[in-house]
Amino acid sequence: MSQWTEWASNLNALCLGYKRPQDCYSMLTDNELCFLEQYGRYSYTGAGKIVDLGCWLGGSTLALARGVADSAHQKRRTRRRPIDAFDRFVWEDWMTPIGRMLDVPKQYAPGDDYFEDVEVLLRSHEGMVRLRRGDLVDEPDFRDVIEFLFIDAMKSWPLANAIQRVFFPRLIPERSLIVQQDFGYHHPIVATAHVLMWRLRDAFEAVHHVPNSCSVVFFHRRPLIRRKLPRLDPDLLTVEEVHQIWEHSLQCIGRNMWGPVLLCKLLFMIERGWEEEAHAEAAKLAAQGYRYEGAALADARAAIEKRLRVWPPHTNQARWLEETGARLE
Ligand SMILES: C[S@@+](CC[C@H](N)C(=O)[O-])C[C@H]1O[C@@H](n2cnc3c(N)ncnc32)[C@H](O)[C@@H]1O
Repeated sequence: MSQWTEWASNLNALCLGYKRPQDCYSMLTDNELCFLEQYGRYSYTGAGKIVDLGCWLGGSTLALARGVADSAHQKRRTRRRPIDAFDRFVWEDWMTPIGRMLDVPKQYAPGDDYFEDVEVLLRSHEGMVRLRRGDLVDEPDFRDVIEFLFIDAMKSWPLANAIQRVFFPRLIPERSLIVQQDFGYHHPIVATAHVLMWRLRDAFEAVHHVPNSCSVVFFHRRPLIRRKLPRLDPDLLTVEEVHQIWEHSLQCIGRNMWGPVLLCKLLFMIERGWEEEAHAEAAKLAAQGYRYEGAALADARAAIEKRLRVWPPHTNQARWLEETGARLE
């Protein structure tokens, strides 16, 4: 058993029977919350900061803080406020159904500021967390070294570029971990994570897929210099590169998540306007037995509908798109 496999299986074993705390409102699964808490408790050393990108109502932050509060590092108090949590803290429309599902006690309207509510929710760990309001696209100033980087906010190409430029050069080689929370999700914007981790594959090694979740953990191997980081631009990718990128991604994640990861690739191809290649990809998926439903199928249909508006009926492109849609069900 490799050192990482043993590490992951110890963390998994600690999560049997885990229940999220009452005051924790989080979009993460219980497995992800428990992973963050146990990481904070048993693996975090205090060599660098913990950074939570996209903390929303502070659920991910609370899990990390609960673990760190209990850790040997915190008992030595080597670092004041070991956790920095970033968010815009501005409510958006898409958060409303999730808030309702999670029984968030307060109702928000789009545009509402929820910063002070997160302060209250994290009050029990006040001295440990620094909440940082702002748009990450604006590349906030960040000078500390980072031991653990939790990325749950990489929802656009400019944002992915900003995140790598600000935070990646601060990671500690042979020590830091980063988590790409969306890695196993089907949405085409997750291409940002697949492209980024492929471009930087010499600097990061996938070491753990948090069970029953979309989160993949990477170990940081080689130092990264800000001015040498690749600029991510979907327009510059070739079809051949896209095949290589997703080959790499499949090696980073458990087989049970290959379906959504491959759908992300297909939807990214449709978005790029590569109808013929997407058609071939859908045929491969269908032959391998992948079928989609729920949000995945709805998002696929929406992406196909959008491209169908570009092509007149009876063109090859329209036919390829329609057949692609039919093969996913
Ligand atoms: C999926 S949610 C995070 C969920 C959270 N980690 C939890 O435990 O529930 C993504 C968060 O990223 C934040 N976000 C998205 N884009 C951002 C940006 N450009 N700058 C700062 N925060 C951003 C959103 O406000 C949202 O709270």
